[in-house]
Amino acid sequence: MPTTPSEDRAVLTDHGLALDEGLPETWTALAADVLRGLTDEHKHLPPKWFYDARGSDLFDQICEQPEYYPTRAEAELLSAQGSAIAKAFPARELVELGSGSSTKTPLLLRPLMKEGTLERYVPVDVSASALGQAQRTLEAAFPGLLIERRVLDFTTQLHLLGHAPQGGRLVAFLGSTIGNLEPVEVQAFLAALRSQLGPGDAVLIGTDLVKDTATLEAAYNDAAGITAAFNKNVLRVVNRELDADFDEDAFAHESIWNPELERIETRLRALGPQQVRVRSLSLDVDFTEGEAIFTEISRKFRRETVAELYTAAGFELTDWFEGNGVYGLSIARPV
Ligand code: AVJ
Repeated sequence: MPTTPSEDRAVLTDHGLALDEGLPETWTALAADVLRGLTDEHKHLPPKWFYDARGSDLFDQICEQPEYYPTRAEAELLSAQGSAIAKAFPARELVELGSGSSTKTPLLLRPLMKEGTLERYVPVDVSASALGQAQRTLEAAFPGLLIERRVLDFTTQLHLLGHAPQGGRLVAFLGSTIGNLEPVEVQAFLAALRSQLGPGDAVLIGTDLVKDTATLEAAYNDAAGITAAFNKNVLRVVNRELDADFDEDAFAHESIWNPELERIETRLRALGPQQVRVRSLSLDVDFTEGEAIFTEISRKFRRETVAELYTAAGFELTDWFEGNGVYGLSIARPV
């Protein structure tokens, strides 16, 4: 039976974090992350807290900015190579992690349906409302396809996925979201994923590739200032959810390329000395002029670095698709 999680679970505030819909522990997780992140010597806040309703909307707008190439590059690669991917792994079941509104999914579903093997699509996301929307759209476009949506956080709850009894499962993780994870987090994530897969299954992962600094930095510093607003949105989320008094105009958006670690590093930098009160945590946070809150890493990859990640987690990279050195899609199988 397809699972049909409730779409109208209680949210914590009127505005509601998108993440709250399926996850009652979200507020506690935010409080813990903020307490740890703002009391550390080097302040940091994890990127998952960008994505309340406004943040998700800003991210969609980022994807339409001329400078932010990864979304278009991945969609073009899926369009060009979708049937090659489907031939390389004619899946019975497509699981998509962080599927959101499933906008790119038809680019995979169409060629997989054409192979005649696909029976089931399993979108996995923390947002029940996004999953419900996606299900209605895809059901109309792909009659006969069984859609089994799952509300879960793939960073902590992958074990709830369960095994595909007959194999032929393809787990897609698109959008270069894997680039948000530190190397140890990637290894833990891939190992957890590996434990849910059998010998006849595979993963399909999208990775943005290392390229010239100007292109990379422009993608995270769009002229319209959408990425800056997105970055500062985490302060609004903390203000609203934890009764804090961050002044977003007192911080500057910064995204710079770190060539040693091959990653874009995104921070919010205090424009002057200030004190911020987080009332729900009874916490006062002092900032010196120029002090930063680390908010996001966006790692960029090479074919070799992707292959190493897989090897460390018990996978083998078996198929590599690349569009003009801009973006990569890889299929890996359990070894
Ligand atoms: C969704 C994590 C892939 O890191 O490129 C876009 C998020 N942050 N602009 C990325 C993001 C700033 C994006 N990912």
